[in-house]
Amino acid sequence: MRDWLNNLPKAELHLHLEGSLEPELMFRLAERNKIVLPWRDVEALRSAYDFNNLQEFLDLYYAGADVLRTEQDFYDLTWAYLQKCEEQNVVHTEPFFDPQTHTARGVPFEAALEGISAALADGRELLGISSGLILSFLRHLPEEDAFKTLEQALPYRDAFFAVGLDSSEVGHPPSKFQRVFDKARGEGLLAVAHAGEEGPPEYIWEALDLLKVSRIDHGVRAAEDPRLIARLIEEQIPLTVCPLSNTRLKVFGHMREHNILQLLEQGVKVTVNSDDPAYFGGYVTENFLALHEHLGMDEAQARRLAQNSLDARLAF
Ligand code: ADE
Ligand code: ZN
Repeated sequence: MRDWLNNLPKAELHLHLEGSLEPELMFRLAERNKIVLPWRDVEALRSAYDFNNLQEFLDLYYAGADVLRTEQDFYDLTWAYLQKCEEQNVVHTEPFFDPQTHTARGVPFEAALEGISAALADGRELLGISSGLILSFLRHLPEEDAFKTLEQALPYRDAFFAVGLDSSEVGHPPSKFQRVFDKARGEGLLAVAHAGEEGPPEYIWEALDLLKVSRIDHGVRAAEDPRLIARLIEEQIPLTVCPLSNTRLKVFGHMREHNILQLLEQGVKVTVNSDDPAYFGGYVTENFLALHEHLGMDEAQARRLAQNSLDARLAF
């Protein structure tokens, strides 16, 4: 089944480039940039990947991202991810990057954007992987900071096609970012947002009605609200679900309890994605495989999930 799932043509629609930073590359970049990491070696770092919730993960993820300093670092990060895509027959990807994670440390916005863009261009040319980049705002920071990030990014308008919203969800509802999303959409950008990962169904309503998103990232807590489920089905709004992430961050106690196949059978346009594969134990194929092993996903369901991911693409 692994080979069959691996060979299935897929799109990945929920992937944080910073979350694809494998421990080996983190240590290599630390050495290159003369940074001393707080972990002795790769094994010590891997054993720290034991999270009780989103915030515990984010604390480590932002610490790890500190090794990314130069345009070449961002190129290497993105290229390593694209090679994984090639291995797993991910034919199209729409990754996020978090500019504020880098500019707050003094890394120029251009270094991150240009390194990532150059790798995505090589991915298109050398690997045949189509892609579009999503510029994501950190929701634990004020809306004013998101405005500054958008201003910084607009001279490079063609390098990304959408804005997103990520980081600590609870206490930071989509409504906090309504004005900056209005501005972004006014510039012709599309919108997506993390909602209903740890936050309540109301955040999904807000993302749809106030931010006017084209897709919901995660969205698994929609299952608590039958009216919302009816709307997601009626409007065929895609959810970018990340099964391994949800179990690693204890959104579900065990993969057996994950609701993705129930949502699929109800008619919700769910897709399978890896979120932060270096931290959560696998890329897209491993996420599909976990659904087969723990939820009994069959080939017909896998085909529908993969087709949903191709249908839910926004960047062309
Ligand atoms: N940033 C990286 N991964 C994330 C996730 N799963 N939720 C919110 N913000 C994130
Ligand atoms: Zn995410």
